[in-house]
Amino acid sequence: MSTVSTGPETAGPTEPTGQTEPAEPAEPAGRTEPAGQSAGSGAAPRSAAEVIAAEEALLAHNYHPLPVVVSRAEGAWVEDVEGNRYLDMLAGYSALNFGHRHPALVDAARRQLDRLTLTSRAFHNDRLAELASGLAELTGLDMTLPMNTGAEAVESAVKLARKWAYEVRGVPEDRATVVVAAGNFHGRTTTVVSFSTDPTARDGFGPLTPGFRVVPYNDLGALAAAVDDTTAAVLIEPIQGEAGVVIPDDGYLRGVRRLTSEAGVLFAADEIQSGLGRTGRTLAVDHEDVRPDLVLLGKALGGGILPVSAVVGRRDVMEVLRPGEHGSTFGGNPLAAAVGCAVLDLLRTGEFQRRAAELGAVLDARLAGLVGRGVTGYRCRGLWAGVDVDPAVGTGRQIGERLLRRGVLVKDTHGSTIRLAPPLTVTEDELDGALSALAEVIA
Ligand SMILES: Cc1ncc(COP(=O)(O)O)c(C=O)c1O
Repeated sequence: MSTVSTGPETAGPTEPTGQTEPAEPAEPAGRTEPAGQSAGSGAAPRSAAEVIAAEEALLAHNYHPLPVVVSRAEGAWVEDVEGNRYLDMLAGYSALNFGHRHPALVDAARRQLDRLTLTSRAFHNDRLAELASGLAELTGLDMTLPMNTGAEAVESAVKLARKWAYEVRGVPEDRATVVVAAGNFHGRTTTVVSFSTDPTARDGFGPLTPGFRVVPYNDLGALAAAVDDTTAAVLIEPIQGEAGVVIPDDGYLRGVRRLTSEAGVLFAADEIQSGLGRTGRTLAVDHEDVRPDLVLLGKALGGGILPVSAVVGRRDVMEVLRPGEHGSTFGGNPLAAAVGCAVLDLLRTGEFQRRAAELGAVLDARLAGLVGRGVTGYRCRGLWAGVDVDPAVGTGRQIGERLLRRGVLVKDTHGSTIRLAPPLTVTEDELDGALSALAEVIA
């Protein structure tokens, strides 16, 4: 199935640090069962069709996956139960920025597995302060609230902002508002979908949580009009990922910073998808040299190994939380902290940000060449692009299915828009192969 012309064996000159991809995904240590057999289950190998049928019967239908059953992966490549190989151009919605099973991250996890995995925060563990120190260094902020999933980080930021508004800003009780942007995607909990503007995400899940004001994205005038004495925070994505990699005008993030500072309200940047190297900088707000009051991280912070998220913020905001007021059994566990620290070590090298910037320029140039040839428009920053395919060519889903048959995995966002977000370890040849496949399927 692997028809992308260049496999890992032809890795280009920009081979990433520490990431050596063998021609075939290497046999993980201690794993001897054939492809298709779930590790450790003892069950007989199953075909893709059998696995898909079993999922259909046994799993809630809240996803509509492409018909591929992945059983192993390494670097930018995954392999399905039938031995077909695919270039992963989705990278777990940016949770796999460092590729599948990056050796340094797997090693950090293994070493921690042999020592200590979970304490709950009823006790201290010897890894968490190191993660918080690294996150303070990364963001230029002071303190960390560790969580697990992205949605939990968003929930936590909303709680922090509300409490800060009552205790510090003097907003009357239960009147606090958070200003958000239309087209946002911040997760799936009931409060978070309450301020989604996507009816599919929101409708049928009421009663919705009050206290949110929605303004158009990339519109500073509308934002200024929505901020008042009740405002606790402005919560935005520096680039809207799920909306189709929507990049605001240059100056928007600086404008949000100026406006929130002048109004004395918090600027909370959801960098869960845009952060940690994806856009060619460590954070997407770095493109405008802006420092928010709260930075929300997730996805790649867990190195593609386990869910790790965090709210990192100003000391005076973070200190409004006192014992018992917020928490999570798994948040800040030592395994998560060890992997998070290893992720921060990779980012400290600057290698991944540099790769995203350099290969992002290649991606941008290739996409520009497709405009008018099946592509009506695109937005690209670093190794992250939203590509609007001419609806006459097919829906995003259909494009995804055609690319799947050519050995490339992508995911549609809305309508005929597909998102490209390969691991930052992808080589130029691999990227080139994926874009040639895209050019073919939309020709
Ligand atoms: C910007 C942003 N925030 C929050 C989330 C929610 O993260 P999770 O799925 O880990 O809850 C996502 C997920 O796509 C996201 O893109």
